[in-house]
This record gives sequence, C-alpha cells and structure tokens, in this order.
Amino acid sequence: MGINKKNVVIANLKMYLPSRNDADRWLENFIRAKKNFNLEQTILVICPPVIFLNEFAKKIASSWIDLGTQNCFWENEGSYTGEIGARMISSSGGKFVILGHSERRIELKENNQMVAKKIAHLLKNGLHPIVCIGETNMEKEQDKTMDVILYQLEECLKEVSRGKIEDVIICYEPVWAISSNQPNRSPSVNEIMGAKLLIKKFLADKYGLRSAERIKIIYGGSVDDKNIEKVCLETKISGALVGKASTIPHTLLRICQTLEDNK
Ligand code: PGA
Repeated sequence: MGINKKNVVIANLKMYLPSRNDADRWLENFIRAKKNFNLEQTILVICPPVIFLNEFAKKIASSWIDLGTQNCFWENEGSYTGEIGARMISSSGGKFVILGHSERRIELKENNQMVAKKIAHLLKNGLHPIVCIGETNMEKEQDKTMDVILYQLEECLKEVSRGKIEDVIICYEPVWAISSNQPNRSPSVNEIMGAKLLIKKFLADKYGLRSAERIKIIYGGSVDDKNIEKVCLETKISGALVGKASTIPHTLLRICQTLEDNK
C-alpha cells in the first residue's frame, strides 16, 4: 500500500478543541480557508479529538485530506473499558493513528512495547501508524539522542514485516522542541538531518534500501508557517506533525502549500 504522495502533514489537534462549539468553529474556518488550496503532492491528515472524528470525516475528507486519531488500542473488541480499536476508527473515517506521542509516554506511561502492539494491530487492520520517537531534554544534554532514537525504533518496529513497513510513518519529534514544553526552541537543520539519516540507516539495514527510500520520515516540534522551510525543506524531510499551529486552519494550510510549492 504505502503512501503515494510526496509530502505528509499531520495536524495533531490534541485537546485544543474542548467543546463541540470549538470543533464547529474550527471546521467552519477550515472549510472557508480550504477553498483557496488544492494540493496534489501533499496529503493533510487531520487528527481531531476522537469524539469529533465522524463529523470531521463527513465534512472535510477529500482527495488530499484524510482523517486520523491521536491514539488507539491493540484490540478491535472485548472488555476494554474506554478503549478504541482500529475497526472503530476506520468505520468512522480514520485512516491514520498517531502513536507513542511523548505526552502519552510521559503522562500515561505508554511504553515502546505498548506502541509495538498498537502498530501491529493497525497494520493488520489496514491503517497507517504515525510513530513518534525522539529524545527528552535530559537525554539530549547527556548526549543520548542517537541511542534513544535507535532504541525506540528497534522496540516499536519489532513486529513490523518488510511487507508492511511502507505503511508506517516515522515522526522524529524531540520532546524538548514541542511548543508546550519549550516555546521558541527548535532543532538546527543539522540536528534534524542527523536524526533523519540515522532513522533511514536503521530502516535500510532492517528493510532494505528501496523501502528506506519510500518510508515517510517527518519532523514534529513547534512547526509553523514561518519555520516550515527550515525544518522540512532545508532538511529534505517528507513532512511535519503540527500541534499548536494546526489550531489555525489557514496556518495549517499554508504549511501544506509551502511543502507543495517547493517539491
Ligand atoms: P507543537 O506540537 O507543534 O505544538 O510543538 C507537536 C506535537 O506535540 O505533536
């Protein structure tokens, strides 16, 4: 299957739309702004709070807009209070799922083993996992960035076969660069490129060069319409995971357009 577009932008709306009114207002603004954009080489995946997924899918899915969620469980049904499986997500219009986000790793103690089980579940059910990896501030200061990236990749992708790896998106998201952790701090071009090369080498060693070239590697952490050229174009990375800036639909669309225009 894989992902056929050149660029992927993921909007992680977190809990930024806390009520139906907020969700409706975001949708209205998005639908109005979207009229001025038509992207061919870029796919935009919007991940609203899951309770609004169905409505978002009905109102905005199109040839270049897909929907996703910010988490899932590793079973489709059963006695799992409060959980959501791949089949529920796909039957509500979602095709992508963000996994292993640092906010879940830190706040909810989600670990690599859990992420690995969720990845296997999504792939079995034909959905695309967006796997977040990246070092904390302390790990960076201790010079452990490369070790952390390799360990997370190794553990999270343990069960993923050659036949399925191209359905996975890898997102390098240094925890210290997320806007809610450290405003105004993003990695240098060299730091992002270093991480990208390391991820690519890991993928090439495990899955072969051809797959490594095709797998989407994206960057997340304080991305907006002002730094998108630096963090994605200068680093030749395939797209972005956008948190805070995705709350403003026009900014989100401008991020997509910048990628579209430059590749
Ligand atoms: P940010 O969030 O763009 O607000 O830094 C990104 C994320 O946490 O996914």
